[in-house]
Order: sequence, then structure tokens, then C-alpha cells
Amino acid sequence: MEVTLEKIVNLCKRRGIIFPGSEIYGGLANSYDFGLLGLEIKNNIKKLWWKMFVQEREDITGLDSTVMMNSKVWESSGHLKGFNDLLIECKKCHERYRAEELDPKVCRKCAGKKFTEARGFNTMFRTNLGPVETPENVVYLRPETAQAMFVDFKQIVEAYRMKVPFGIAQIGKAFRNEITPRNFIFRTREFEQMEIEYFVREQDWKEYFKHWEGEMKRWIKALGIDEKQVRYYEVPDGERAHYSKRTIDVQFKFPFGLEELYGLAYRTDFDLQAHKQDYRDPETGEKFIPHVIEPSLGVERTVLAVLFSAYEEVKGGRTTTTESVKEEEVVLHLPKAIAPIKVAVLPLSRKTELTEPARAIYRELRTHFMCEYDETASVGKRYRRQDEIGTPYCVTFDFESIDDTKVTVRDRDSMKQDRVAIAELSGWLKEKFEL
Ligand code: GAP
Repeated sequence: MEVTLEKIVNLCKRRGIIFPGSEIYGGLANSYDFGLLGLEIKNNIKKLWWKMFVQEREDITGLDSTVMMNSKVWESSGHLKGFNDLLIECKKCHERYRAEELDPKVCRKCAGKKFTEARGFNTMFRTNLGPVETPENVVYLRPETAQAMFVDFKQIVEAYRMKVPFGIAQIGKAFRNEITPRNFIFRTREFEQMEIEYFVREQDWKEYFKHWEGEMKRWIKALGIDEKQVRYYEVPDGERAHYSKRTIDVQFKFPFGLEELYGLAYRTDFDLQAHKQDYRDPETGEKFIPHVIEPSLGVERTVLAVLFSAYEEVKGGRTTTTESVKEEEVVLHLPKAIAPIKVAVLPLSRKTELTEPARAIYRELRTHFMCEYDETASVGKRYRRQDEIGTPYCVTFDFESIDDTKVTVRDRDSMKQDRVAIAELSGWLKEKFEL
């Protein structure tokens, strides 16, 4: 079974997971909005990242900084000069591309083979602060969340008494005026990053680079991203960002090619030097400028890799129902922590003797988990609806439930059914989610 981008896009649109933004006005340059289910997936990814790298570690603290910062930040960081993409233009139809994008160099629109010379194009979005447009009022939307963690470095060290080695983590929006946004949510102009700036002594950078390589592997595993589709690419000299001495791109084999999912960079002391930030060891009094290891992760690219890895299409159907025609079924094998709806409650029929107690169960369960209640169509169809969005458990209240005060709990992946006492249901489910 080939999982194409089209299949994922269709599922996302059909179920309101992710859909084109501003669609009634013809959309806006590859921008996408997330409905409740997509939003829950995204939030669960961010929550898991925060749990694994902030909550469960005593050496990492957090930050939530502004998107717009003093323009001197971007002057010092080198972004005003160096945050350039190389742009080429087809001489025949004037379609624009990033220089490294076309291999072979043939225009995707008109098949032309002649292009203009590559020229630098700064991808930072520019705007003005306040009503008057003067050079002093120019500000930029941040192209990475990283810089605030360098700019606020001293403030954070002092307030939170951080000792090298330590990290600062941040999740937030970043903006890049990409020349060619494309491939659904893979490359957009507005996206979210989850970044850690990890500060070490210069002589320790290799050790911590290795450590973060391991942590990124642990993260990929936790998300259920198909490890067979992941490659670690050593970015050669001349291709790295202006601040990096070593970068490994974590690549994922998307249907549109092997592409960067995440980056792991050794940023040296480039940024802290640039912002004139240093560090004083509280015990020895030694002053130095820490070096930085940076695991940088895109939220939307994570969502996409997770969806590709979780997607299964079952020809002829998998659910045992009495329906004579079994269609193709989609199952999203999302990790339980990422699934947008954790439990669905389904009365076997729409008779009030079943719907009323089923609704009572739903009201109780939703105080613990994101739940859905569904009483329309056959149970088989309702299972399918839940499988398609990756709901790990479906709880069915049937006629027997009235007498034995038990419900059937169906597991999404094994399709095994357990009979569970209603009084113990939320505890039973909680245990399953903790495994
Ligand atoms: N602070 C380092 C940094 O920003 P980057 O490799 O330019 O490094 C890091 O970006 C990650 O951000 C990428 O690996 C990717 O996951 C995500 N990302 C970058 N540009 C993106 C875009 N236009 N759309 C979606 N995600 C993007």
C-alpha cells in the first residue's frame, strides 16, 4: 500500500483535521488551518515534547518570548545579512524557485531550461512598529525561536540559577518568506518550532552533540515515526547555516522525497558572542562564553511524519460487521499520547434505554479524556470513523450493559474487545493510557 500525500491531504480535509486557510477567497499561498482534531494532535505533540525535555529534566528551563524583537537582534545574529535563500527565475514563464530546488534544472511550470543567475533573497518578513513607516520602526517576524533564548540568556541564568550544562526550551511561531511554499504543511510561511538551546563548555560539545542525537532518536520512537524512513544526514561544509560548525539533518522519506524533518546543530559560541552574553561559574568564578547544541524541530513537519507513519489502509475492511459491502478502511495507528480523541462512547442503538446511560458514561469520561459521543449509523461505521482519526478505545453500551453494568471496550489496533465494569471504566482506561 502506497501512502501518497494526496491520501493524507484528503483524510485531513474530509475529517477537518487540517484544511486550506482562507479557502472561500481562493486560499492564501499554501496556508492551512487546523480543526479540533488537528489542533489536538499538534497540542499533544507539543505537550509530549515539553514533558520529555522540560518536565522530566532538571537541566532545562523554558521561555515564551515575543515574535517581534528589537531589530538589533537580527543585525547581531547575522540574519539580516545571512538569512538568504538563493532565488532563480525561469526566463520563459518567470516562475521562481530556490536555486537548490530543481534537479535537473527544468521549470516545473513550462519545462523551460533557462534561468536567471541565482541572487540572494532575505526570507525574513518585515513590518513596521507603530503608525509611521520609518527605518527606525522596521521590525521583523522571527524566522527562528532560538534568538530570544540567547538574548535573554543572562536574565534566565540569574533568575533560575541555571548551571552549565543546561538548556532553554521554547515552542512558538516562526515566519519565513519562503520562495516556494509547498507540499501541504511541509513548507509554509508561518509555522511552529520546538527548539532547545543547550549550553555547554566548548570542550564538551561533541559529547552533548551525541547526547542530543540520542535524544532525537528517542523522540522519534516516542512519536511512532517510522524509523525505517528516517536518515541522518551530515550537512557538508558550505551548506550549513552561517552559525553552524556541524549540522545533522534528520530526514524523513516523504512521498515527495527525502526531506529535512529536523535539524541538530552545533552553533558554537556564535550567538552568545554576537549578543555579548557571557557566563560566570558560580562555584569557581570562571568567566566564559558557553557553546551551544541546538535540536530544532518543526511542529507541522512532525504532524506530517506522524500521519504518514500512522496511516494504514485496509482493503476490504477490518471490522466485523453485518454489512455486506466492506469498503476500504483507514486506520491511524497514532501513539495513544498523540491521538486527538482518546475514547469514543457508542450506544449500540439509538433507543433511549441505551443512549441515556451511554451519555452519562460520556459525561464522566470527558472529565478525564478528550472524548466523542456518537449514536448515528451502525456500530461498524462508527468504529471506522474512530479508526480513521486514531481513537485508541471505543466504549459500547449494549442491551446486556443494562443488566450486567458492564460495557465493551474495543482496542483500535488489536480490535480485541474487553468487558469492563462501568464503575471501573475510567480507572481501567487511565491505566491503559499510562502504559
Ligand atoms: N534555529 C535553527 C533553525 O531554525 P532550520 O533548519 O532552519 O533551523 C528548523 O529550521 C526546523 O524548523 C526544520 O528542521 C523544520 O522542521 C522547521 N521548518 C523550517 N522551515 C520551515 C517551513 N518553511 N515550514 C515548516 N517547517 C519549517
